[in-house]
Amino acid sequence: MASDTNQSAWGGRFSEATDAQVQSMNASIAFDQRLAMEDIAGSIAHSRMLAATGLISPEEQQTLEGGLIGIAHDIRSGSFTFTEAREDVHMNVEGALAERVGDVAGKLHSGRSRNDQVALDLRLWLRRELTETAQEILAVVEALVELSETHADLPMPGYTHLQRAQPITFGHHLNAYGAMMLRDVSRLLDARDRAAELPLGAGALAGTPLPIDRERVARELEDSRLTLNSLDTVSDRDAALETLSALSIFMVHVSRLAEEMVLWTSQEFGFVTLSDAFCTGSSLMPQKKNPDIPELLRGKSGRVFGALQSLLVVMKGLPLAYNKDMQEDKEPLFDAMDTSRMCARVLPALLRAMKPQAAAMKAALSEGFLLATDLADHLVAEGVPFREAHHIIGRAVAHCLDRSCALEDLTLEELRQLDPRFGDDARSVLDATRSLDRRDVVGGPKPARVRETCARSRETHDALSERTLSGGASALERALAAGEPLPPATS
Ligand code: ARG
Repeated sequence: MASDTNQSAWGGRFSEATDAQVQSMNASIAFDQRLAMEDIAGSIAHSRMLAATGLISPEEQQTLEGGLIGIAHDIRSGSFTFTEAREDVHMNVEGALAERVGDVAGKLHSGRSRNDQVALDLRLWLRRELTETAQEILAVVEALVELSETHADLPMPGYTHLQRAQPITFGHHLNAYGAMMLRDVSRLLDARDRAAELPLGAGALAGTPLPIDRERVARELEDSRLTLNSLDTVSDRDAALETLSALSIFMVHVSRLAEEMVLWTSQEFGFVTLSDAFCTGSSLMPQKKNPDIPELLRGKSGRVFGALQSLLVVMKGLPLAYNKDMQEDKEPLFDAMDTSRMCARVLPALLRAMKPQAAAMKAALSEGFLLATDLADHLVAEGVPFREAHHIIGRAVAHCLDRSCALEDLTLEELRQLDPRFGDDARSVLDATRSLDRRDVVGGPKPARVRETCARSRETHDALSERTLSGGASALERALAAGEPLPPATS
């Protein structure tokens, strides 16, 4: 009999055994075993629906659910063996179920295909991971806001084009990253909430003639909606693409912050020292203390951007509906998620390990004419049109460059030789602290405004934190993962 030659699920159709190289290329179990708990939760929800609609008996459902819970237990305890011969996570779970409960295991796949099953597993996985990632990034925001408040009064140069531009404070600078990461959390939670649609019922591509009840499964898994179209459902990886996009943007922010840490800890800047716990030495140069962790944060962004690129390219030419190319979604997605989460988890302690060097910041503020705009604004207050004031101060700067002195070194008489309209208090604006105090605008660098921004950041943080509390893993998945009794079937 031909069916004895090929042991796979489709062995009935095949008369030759699978080639060994083909088996190993075709198999995804090495990486998709990460979806095992989601796969089991989805199967339990599906089996409850099969019983509710009369497609299987209540006794059969209990046997299936008991077997699936047993498999989850084995996976948690590490005693479950995944095998390549069973190709992927879905067939590994189903094969193990057959060993445990016998032929009734064959009823579980009624009205379902691996195509809608893998779509479900991925969505459930994303919902949980995105919730946890959002919480981890919120902890980074907490550290940034806390440090921003502590250093709200510490003046440092602000830059454009990496040229000293105007005074800001260290707290103001750190808070900029808090603002970025609050947006990151919001983007990740948006992606999560859009992922909460139930794909089961799409079948292989064209639904199923069996009288299933999609709404019931959605209630069981706490999905907010059903997917709209069966062809789209099995060939859609938007939730993964959105996740990778949002993670990539997060990693842009991480990388920029890391780059600033590398600059700040250099001898050229000297604005910050990092505690030894976050640095390494050189095996050759005894004097070296290198910012390896910021450098790795900067470097790891490359893998995450690569993952996004990889999935975009995998998806771009696929005809409807499911194609096996889509199995290539998982490794980049898992790697990008793990990488981003590792970066998020290291950041709070790394940020707190920075010791700002006030003297170096102050010295940098005194060179580079950072108060030139303030002096121009003084002339504007005296009635000089800004464009003209800009020109006058430009001449003053050129004058100082000729003499190798600072604007602060010019006397009022010298200023008035450049232009008679300088007021009596012109020189008093040449002070970084006063300059900061006058920048009294919402979102600006005046220390009181920085504290106000910290308070506003905290409000957004708390609202997002609240949002993470619902919309993550369903009660069924949580109980299964914890080895607790499952909630009763929904009605
Ligand atoms: N391992 C597959 C994947 O990740 C599951 C779906 C397989 N479906 C199929 N018709 N071969 O995409």
